[in-house]
Amino acid sequence: MNIIIKGFLFRQFSILSRSFVLKIQHPNLKKLKSMNLNSKIEIALYHSDKIISNFTSRHSLSNKIVGYWLLSCSGMVFVAVTLGGITRLTESGLSIVTWKLLGEKIPLNEVSWLNEFEKYKQFPEFKMINTNITLQEFKQIWLMEYIHRMWGRLIGISFIIPASYFWINNMLKPGMKKNILILGILIGCQGLLGWYMVKSGLENDFMKPSDIPRVSQYRLAAHLGLAIIIYTKFLYTALDHLIPNETNGFNIFKLKSVDKQLKLLKRLKLIAYSSKCLIFFTIISGAFVAGLDAGLIYNTFPKMSNKWIPDDILFLKPLIKNFTENPVTVQFDHRILAISTLFLVTYLAIISKKYKLCGRAATAILAVLISTYMQAFLGIFTLYSYVSTHSATAHQSGSLVLLSTIVWLCHEMKCIKKLPK
Ligand code: HEM
Repeated sequence: MNIIIKGFLFRQFSILSRSFVLKIQHPNLKKLKSMNLNSKIEIALYHSDKIISNFTSRHSLSNKIVGYWLLSCSGMVFVAVTLGGITRLTESGLSIVTWKLLGEKIPLNEVSWLNEFEKYKQFPEFKMINTNITLQEFKQIWLMEYIHRMWGRLIGISFIIPASYFWINNMLKPGMKKNILILGILIGCQGLLGWYMVKSGLENDFMKPSDIPRVSQYRLAAHLGLAIIIYTKFLYTALDHLIPNETNGFNIFKLKSVDKQLKLLKRLKLIAYSSKCLIFFTIISGAFVAGLDAGLIYNTFPKMSNKWIPDDILFLKPLIKNFTENPVTVQFDHRILAISTLFLVTYLAIISKKYKLCGRAATAILAVLISTYMQAFLGIFTLYSYVSTHSATAHQSGSLVLLSTIVWLCHEMKCIKKLPK
């Protein structure tokens, strides 16, 4: 019975191998002969190996292409955030008073410009702040906002066209289709949120002479928050494609005894992930500082006008309002969060020394450390310069550089859960 089954299996295998040989009609027949393969089974195995390796290399080529595309999308989001910062700092954000899904038309002659200028004159920013703005100055702020909006649309196109191509041609890894859908939805929401934010600065409810027509700090924080979520997702998935994570588990650490150090490694990972959360919250609190122009008060560091805790920190009622509506509290919170980030990242770098990190993980920790200190320095400089456009733009871009380094570090640490127990 056993012999019959074995015979049957062998026959099936040789039929299969012959069909492999016939199907392939290989152009390398000469090469094969010279290899002295002495049975059809060996030839079939040789071919199946080649098929598998061709498939794998095609697959890894697709991964690389998709990875570089995701990386360029994250780069485009980085530029969009920087452009958004410049738009806000040059007070250009409220110059285009309408929103069209496919883009506003750029005025091509003087009549169209005057028409656009007239529309702007109906809104509070002109009536209350920019009453003396010239047409030439208006053109500059209009173009700044236009570039920011069009860049956002360009991101949409650079995402949707390649994504559809990769989807149709089955070039996406398992699980990536879900990520693509999420990213698509988030990008769409970001566009709508951008307009929702601008609308808050166009509403006619700035009544008192002391009111400053500007966008709501809540909507600004939501817009920046969503931008950094999109950025992080693009970057993380790009790294998943470009840096094969399964293989770096043992590259990261020169482990002598895995058992002993596993617990400690998990602690290190926890600190890295906590730093990422803290950086995220510091960035969001920074958006509140920017939204309330809170960088224009208390321009000293570390004390706030000779005091560690300023007097007017809790003057709004109910108290909770102070954390999002009182510029003093908002600036104070941003300092506290930034200093906590500085301490946590320094602690991370110090304890990582214990594990004798090597390779990419060590470089990533160093990058996080350097960018955190740079960011804090830029923040203090922004404060001292009374929020000059250059330093504030550098501070805003610096926050994304810092975020990139911590995302990279967390990606390197992902494999810790795969280490043998
Ligand atoms: C980990 C450290 C820090 C991070 C991640 C961070 C992040 C940010 C972000 C994202 C913004 C919003 C920028 C915008 O929307 O234009 C901001 C604004 C600001 N930050 Fe920081 N910051 C940090 C440290 C500091 C420090 C130490 C100071 C100084 C006390 C500081 C002072 C400011 C000021 C004055 C602004 C308002 C700038 C503006 O109006 O454009 N930051 N920060």
